[in-house]
Amino acid sequence: MQTHPVSRAVNLQAAAASLDEIFSPRIVGRVNDHYVKVARARGDFVWHAHEQEDEMFLVLRGTLIIEVEGQESVTLGAGDMYVVPKGVRHRPVAREECWLALFEPVATTHTGDTVAPITRSIEDQKRGWIDAQ
Ligand code: NI
Repeated sequence: MQTHPVSRAVNLQAAAASLDEIFSPRIVGRVNDHYVKVARARGDFVWHAHEQEDEMFLVLRGTLIIEVEGQESVTLGAGDMYVVPKGVRHRPVAREECWLALFEPVATTHTGDTVAPITRSIEDQKRGWIDAQ
């Protein structure tokens, strides 16, 4: 007899609060072929693009500005979401600390086509995630 996989409730605010690094996303769940991640942001991220994947940002706390090449910046408050289309260069900026959730295909790399000291591997993003899959 097949048993269903174990699942548990995850509080996104608590998960974000538990993070000890800025701009270091942590995987907290998987939905089909997407990971759900939480991150703390403060300061300027690096300009980058994801050639194959749209990227969704959902702000949990604070304010996130997403600078987007060729258009006006987008300002997101708590509860706001925004999708950066694939191939579009962007740079998240948080003037004060901001917490966010991300929904990304499992193949999405942290800083897209840019590799920087803040780049985190998928393995690193799984640290502490008990239900790693
Ligand atoms: Ni991105």
